[in-house]
Amino acid sequence: MSINISTLLESRTACEKADAVDPLGNWRENFYLPQGLIYLDGNSLGPMPNKALEHLEQTIKNEWSEELINSWKNAGWWELSQTLGEMIAPVVGAASGQLIVSDSTSLNLYKTVHAALGMSHGRNVVVSEADSFPTDLYILEGIISSQQNIQRRLVGKDGDSLDELLDENVAVVTLSHVNYRSGELLPIEELVKKTHEAGALFVLDTCHSAGVLSVELDRWGVDFAVGCTYKYLNGGPGSPAYLYVAKRHQQSAVNPLSGWWGHARPFAFEKDFKAAEGILKFQTGTQPILSLRGLQAGLEIAKVADLNMVRKKSQCLTQLFLELVEKRYGNHGVTLHSPNDPEKRGSQVALHYANGFPVIQALIARKIIADFRAPGIMRFGFAPLYLRYTDVWDAAEALHEVLKTEEWREERFQQKHQVT
Ligand SMILES: Cc1ncc(COP(=O)(O)O)c(C=O)c1O
Repeated sequence: MSINISTLLESRTACEKADAVDPLGNWRENFYLPQGLIYLDGNSLGPMPNKALEHLEQTIKNEWSEELINSWKNAGWWELSQTLGEMIAPVVGAASGQLIVSDSTSLNLYKTVHAALGMSHGRNVVVSEADSFPTDLYILEGIISSQQNIQRRLVGKDGDSLDELLDENVAVVTLSHVNYRSGELLPIEELVKKTHEAGALFVLDTCHSAGVLSVELDRWGVDFAVGCTYKYLNGGPGSPAYLYVAKRHQQSAVNPLSGWWGHARPFAFEKDFKAAEGILKFQTGTQPILSLRGLQAGLEIAKVADLNMVRKKSQCLTQLFLELVEKRYGNHGVTLHSPNDPEKRGSQVALHYANGFPVIQALIARKIIADFRAPGIMRFGFAPLYLRYTDVWDAAEALHEVLKTEEWREERFQQKHQVT
């Protein structure tokens, strides 16, 4: 089906027609979506897959309650990080044996960047991006402060491009596939190539791309990767992250957080650490089984979704939203903070508006959920597996009304919260 955005711009009825023939339309039934809610925040926390309840109920009622500790072996708890890693592998273009699901993205970034540095043969510079998600920068700071003579260079601060910052001292480059604020999508294959030509290793953060666009870790030659599972993989609040180590590095890479789950013989309870073979050495300690089980349903969906179709629809949804905001309604002083070219955009649209915070609160009061990132960025995430073209229409119309009537000025929308 090819979608003509100009036709959709004309009327809500045209959007209804597009929904009626949308080949991904039925996937929405896999999710619990509260009545009347338009959810544009799947780039932060995906909605609950209906099956998640079943998996959790089974785990709590049968495995935890009845079987107790036997479930470590009888219900596959011990191998669950690996089992789920194998489910994510095809979603991020990785062959078997290179992924586990464990810990958070922050922790996994620490493990992988540290491991990559350890393989750097005397090089001492880590390159990242000034506009990275803060945890990525903080983790680098932590690594630098705990090691001697490691330096950080940032694209956007110490130079304008990766090319400017690469030289014979660079050990590791770590970048996000899609920027968490602007939604800018980086050409990772090309950047990995440049990194390798400069003799460095590449660590990729796929938090904003895994599950919503094509990620080809093996084909692109990525060395290490990490990613959230609670956004487009719909794993639930705080669901554990994934960690990828390319097969070719598994022998030499060292996990700095060497815990008993990464030991070659955990139940021998030996006094000295001896790393497990393969990806398992990147495990550390006991994993949150309930959270892992909560993630399973999201991965069952992601594993069979056609990512080419997902990407195509995502580009239509973001483009429709942009054009509705800019062309149909007049932008009311809102400016685009995302790339204009859909090929360079992830699955979100970022709009800048100085009073963006109360605008988002006013939308939330109208049951249109988006979020705000200071200063002035309103983020709208478009997850193709459960969003409809009519949702995009309604959201753009509501944004227009909030801006036109200046409803956002109401006192109740000014109150700041811990979470924005
Ligand atoms: C690009 C990116 N990296 C890392 C994180 C945070 O990871 P975590 O809090 O799960 O450690 C986020 C969270 O939104 C993110 O967007």
